[in-house]
Amino acid sequence: MHGLVEGHLDSLLRLVGDMNDIGHAILYSNRRIPSTEFNHASRVNVTESETDKVIADVVRHYTSMKVNPCFEVSPATQPQTFASSLLRRNFKLALEEDVMVYRGKGKRFKVSPDVKVVATDGSLVDVWIDVFMKGFAVPVVLRDAFLDMLGKASQHEGTKSYLGYFQGKPAGVCALLSFNNVGGIFNVGTTPEHRRKGIATALLHKTIGDSLSSGNNPLYLFTRKGSDAERLYSNLGFQVAYTRRLYELQLQKNSKRKSEKRSITFSKPV
Ligand SMILES: CC(C)(COP(=O)(O)OP(=O)(O)OC[C@H]1O[C@@H](n2cnc3c(N)ncnc32)[C@H](O)[C@@H]1OP(=O)(O)O)[C@@H](O)C(=O)NCCC(=O)NCCS
Repeated sequence: MHGLVEGHLDSLLRLVGDMNDIGHAILYSNRRIPSTEFNHASRVNVTESETDKVIADVVRHYTSMKVNPCFEVSPATQPQTFASSLLRRNFKLALEEDVMVYRGKGKRFKVSPDVKVVATDGSLVDVWIDVFMKGFAVPVVLRDAFLDMLGKASQHEGTKSYLGYFQGKPAGVCALLSFNNVGGIFNVGTTPEHRRKGIATALLHKTIGDSLSSGNNPLYLFTRKGSDAERLYSNLGFQVAYTRRLYELQLQKNSKRKSEKRSITFSKPV
C-alpha cells in the first residue's frame, strides 16, 4: 500500500512544489510555504553505512533554503533503523500520521437538510481558500501561497475541490486528487463555528462517492494519529494501513533565532 500512496504523493507534491531526486532520497520543497508537509526528504533508501551521508546531504539542502531539515520515515524507509539514527543526530519526532484506506462499510449517517455540498469551480476559489484558512488556522500571510497552490492543483484534471455549506453559509472544504486511479482526500477542514454539525461527514460522503464512481482504488487520506478526525474517518469506513512520521532537526537556541523560515505546523498540515 505504501508504494501506491508514496507514488500518489510524489505526483501531488511535484504538482504543487519542487521535487529533487538525489538518488537515495527525494527532496520536496515549496519555498513559499515553510511547512514540513511541503519541505521534507522522503523515500530514503540507503545502507546503514550510507546513513550519515544522506542525513548530511539533506541537512545541507534544506539549510541552504533556510528551512528546518525534516525527514519522512515510513515502513518503506531503508535502513529500518533510520529513525533511531535521526534521533541520535538531534532530530525529533514532529508529526505522526496514520495513512488510512477506504474499505467501505462505514456507519450510516443521515445528512442534515441544513448541510449542502457542492463541487467547486473557478468562481468559488476565494471562498474555498477562506474556509480552508479558517478551518486549519493558517496564518493570513500564507493566503497567496495557498491560492497559488490551489491554482496549480486545479490545473490537473484529476483534481476536484468541494465546499460544504451550513444553512447557506460556507462552512467546510476538502479536495480529492486522483492520479493513475489512486485517490487521495486532502484538506478536510470545517470552520470552528460550524464543527460537529455533520459538515465534514457530508463532504466526505460526496468525495468518497465521486472517487468510487471515477474508478479510483484505493482511496486514502492521512491524519494525525489518535485525532478526532481519525475517529470520524474510521466511522466512515477508513482503516489504518500504516503510519508515517516526520522528524525535524532540533535547532540550537541561537540558530533558531536567526532562522528566517522555521517550519510551521497548522492545526493539521495540509
Ligand atoms: C476534523 C474536522 C474536519 C471535523 O469536522 P466536522 O465538520 O466538525 O465533522 P462532523 O460534524 O461531520 O463530525 C464530527 C463529530 O460530530 C458528530 N456530529 C455530526 N453531526 C452532528 C450533529 N448534528 N450534532 C452533534 N454531533 C454531530 C459526528 O458524529 C462526529 O462525531 P465523533 O466526534 O464521535 O467522530 C474539524 O474538526 C476540523 O476542521 N479540524 C481542524 C482541521 C483538521 O484537523 N482537519 C482534519 C485533517 S486530517
